[in-house]
Amino acid sequence: MKSQILEVAQEAALLGAGIHRQYYMQDYSVSVKSADHDRVTEADVAAEKSIIEYIRRFYPDHNFICEEGDYVRTESPFTWIIDPLDGTINYLKSIPHFAVSIGVEKNGVLLAGVVYDTMKDEMFYAEKDKGAFLNDMQIHVSSVGSLSDALVYTGFYYNRGKEMRETLSQIEGFFADGVLAVRRSGSAAVDLCWVACGRGDGFWEHQLSVWDFAGALCILQESGAKCTDYSGDPLPLQGSSLIVSNGNIHDEMMDVISRTSL
Ligand code: IPD
Ligand code: CA
Ligand code: CA
Repeated sequence: MKSQILEVAQEAALLGAGIHRQYYMQDYSVSVKSADHDRVTEADVAAEKSIIEYIRRFYPDHNFICEEGDYVRTESPFTWIIDPLDGTINYLKSIPHFAVSIGVEKNGVLLAGVVYDTMKDEMFYAEKDKGAFLNDMQIHVSSVGSLSDALVYTGFYYNRGKEMRETLSQIEGFFADGVLAVRRSGSAAVDLCWVACGRGDGFWEHQLSVWDFAGALCILQESGAKCTDYSGDPLPLQGSSLIVSNGNIHDEMMDVISRTSL
């Protein structure tokens, strides 16, 4: 049976996705955030507002860490980590590949995770020790055994300096080591869930924010994935570089990334 926290997270994600659909391909405002290539749309902000309003009806004292707003910290041990629209650049180019991501943690342990892919109507979710699911079907990582049979996802850090050159050198390294394919989809949350369900075998990206991966991390953990930072340490619930895999290709991925880091 699903917990109330998971049910609230799923309903909140559906509400956020409703906002995505309402603004999609309409005439909405867009502004520049921290860096020139980092954008925020009216839909990101409106989705976050509706998600939080809904969750607060059930849990008025819980904490929130969200991409678009700062929220006053409470004494509660529960924190909802939310990206109201992961894949903003896809969204503003009318590419139908973006999602809502919600992770819920208590005292540093992820209790539940939801990633809802709006346009494909795909609900990925998990609860600690209860397995990971896509639209109510249990999911697992792939059984691919080596890089030569693996499809790996990556993403580009907004900053175009050293981090960008490093990612490009890592991509080159994966091809040099004979990887089957490298993909960049524009939504880290969806990429990670696609590794969780075997639509790929690995993922790496320099310095993601915690809201990009918290929802998917719970799903990955429950699907049998291995999730570490670039040093091979378990992922912290804060901004981090990520290496995620089906477990079998983790060492090969770590090797490419350490050899090609600048
Ligand atoms: C971005 C996406 C993208 C990843 C970036 C993220 P946003 O999130 O997940 O795939 O490469 O690092 O910032 O800005 O669309 O929420
Ligand atoms: Ca994001
Ligand atoms: Ca976002």
